[in-house]
Amino acid sequence: MNSVLVRFLRYSPIVASLAGGGLLVLGQANPPTGKPTTPEDYRQAAMTRDGEVARGRTLFADEKRLACSKCHSLDGLGLRAGPDLAAVGDRFARRELIDAVLQPSATIAVGYSTTLVTTKSGEEYQGVLKLATDSAVELMIADGQKIRIATSDIREQRGSNISLMPEGLQTGLTPAEFTDLIEYLVSLKQPDHALSHIHGMPENIPALNPPAVLRPLLDAELKVASAPAGTPGAATTGLVWMGQVPGFPDRFLVAHQAGVIWRVEKSAGHADKTLFADFTPEVFSARGPNGLLGIAFHPQFAQNRKYYVKQQVMEVGKITTLLLERQVTADFARDSGQPPRRLMTIPSVAEHHNGGCIQFGPDGFLYLGMGDSAPNFDPQGSAQDLRRLFGKMLRIDVDHPAADLPYGIPSDNPFLGRTDARPEIWAYGLREPWRFSFDSLTGDLWVADLGQERGDEIDLVRRGENYGWNVYEGFELFSQTHRRDGAEYVAPLFATRRKHGSAVIGGHVYRGDVHSSFYGVYIFGDYQSKRVWGLTHDQRSLKEIRQLATSPQAITCIANDAAGNLYVVGYAGMIYQLDLSGARFDPAAATK
Ligand code: HEC
Repeated sequence: MNSVLVRFLRYSPIVASLAGGGLLVLGQANPPTGKPTTPEDYRQAAMTRDGEVARGRTLFADEKRLACSKCHSLDGLGLRAGPDLAAVGDRFARRELIDAVLQPSATIAVGYSTTLVTTKSGEEYQGVLKLATDSAVELMIADGQKIRIATSDIREQRGSNISLMPEGLQTGLTPAEFTDLIEYLVSLKQPDHALSHIHGMPENIPALNPPAVLRPLLDAELKVASAPAGTPGAATTGLVWMGQVPGFPDRFLVAHQAGVIWRVEKSAGHADKTLFADFTPEVFSARGPNGLLGIAFHPQFAQNRKYYVKQQVMEVGKITTLLLERQVTADFARDSGQPPRRLMTIPSVAEHHNGGCIQFGPDGFLYLGMGDSAPNFDPQGSAQDLRRLFGKMLRIDVDHPAADLPYGIPSDNPFLGRTDARPEIWAYGLREPWRFSFDSLTGDLWVADLGQERGDEIDLVRRGENYGWNVYEGFELFSQTHRRDGAEYVAPLFATRRKHGSAVIGGHVYRGDVHSSFYGVYIFGDYQSKRVWGLTHDQRSLKEIRQLATSPQAITCIANDAAGNLYVVGYAGMIYQLDLSGARFDPAAATK
């Protein structure tokens, strides 16, 4: 039995009993004397042969041989321990589906990581966090039971890098059966139900021909040499942010999630990198979309050399989001090494959805995207709750601290003066606003917000508005639980379907060459499908959307510079400049 499974079983008496009941009969497919079938054999089989969907469906549903259907629903609801798989064939390529089954812990679906709880009486539970309030947590354990544990009974609660999905499930199958199972997963596509009439959620996104070109800017990928001690998983994290240093047209900072920032100097056709800062000892990036996620330069950076960093740390046993003010050296070459000033401290509820982006608006105030920091479904309705900072766009004044805060509240913040609302809130009803930007010409605030099972959305965000989560997901009603009488919900400008992508990455309105057909087009992308899109709108109603290019690497950020050039940041370490010169944003010329 492999060590991961042993570790897994030790924590979970319930799955151990499932295993004992014959569900995980390891080695069953191996001939008694022959060479054992390796995971590579299964991968080879499923990559090279076609399987049969109907046989795969039967295997998936067979709770005696495989426990798939105990943990995964197919109704789009996702009420089990694992993610709903209704659109899994849209969201992942065949190879990724094979990996998801052969190595469940290699990449863990956001919102479905494992939480371990030890009670004061010594019981250990392992499951997926489904609810966390001040008084109790609820874990869904492997057999689909929900366990409620009072906060007062918890001795320790911690996250884990090991998936609740057991490793080795394939060993109960022959490679041919495994191929059938994968074929079935590939066949699971988001049904084109009643959505097709929604204008902002088009069925097809035609690709431009010829496409825009992504030109690598570096000779080699930017990587962090080794994972800092005690942070397993940090080695697998990658680049998450890039931005131009104000006043230096060819100087960029590029940030690695683990806490390393490089200075990249661009010169004709290539770029050189130097270490700018290394915050790895303090940054928490071991699990989930946490780490050093966003940087912003002060509007008077040339004079005061101040910049701001949004990062997660581990503080009193909780993943905590910090907003820090730092300063660069007098020659603007690196971080000064001076201790930072701490502006915000936001302890997480769940280990994900802490937003990623910070940006100064044209008004000189700092905007922050905060996710709902909740288990999936946002069961407490944090994004609709104006008393909490979660699920919001926030806006603060870094220059004029209030008497009781390290920052000030701009006098025109919409909820200032209300006793039932946090004054920092600028807009609300968001789930995970990972990247946002301001149009450098109009000042419009464009937010890309990640949805749950159905799709992600692009919102043009205005003061005090409510973008719907978790009453709405994209254009669709999601839940009535936190609907309030008289509340108004602003529909997105655009929402993806799962066949388009599964983690939207906000970009910028292109304001480079005024003669370019792309001038004024909002250019953004998707982490998972690696596609780069451009769209236009009229009064927040979608006009045209086109696919411009496909990135070789998963996209985490789309950056711009003062000249309006756009850059795509690849999670695996490469940055690309988007070359639009050979393409045309001409709807008539688009091909499918
Ligand atoms: C004990 C519960 C459990 C069982 C049994 C189980 N899974 Fe999972 N599965 C999970 C959890 C939890 C995740 C999310 C964490 C992760 O990514 O590993 C997951 C993730 C996945 C994913 C990736 C989905 C995504 O959105 O990232 C696929 C595909 C998948 N499982 C397929 C299967 C198949 C096929 C089987 C049966 C052979 C199976 N699972 C059995 C719990 C389970």
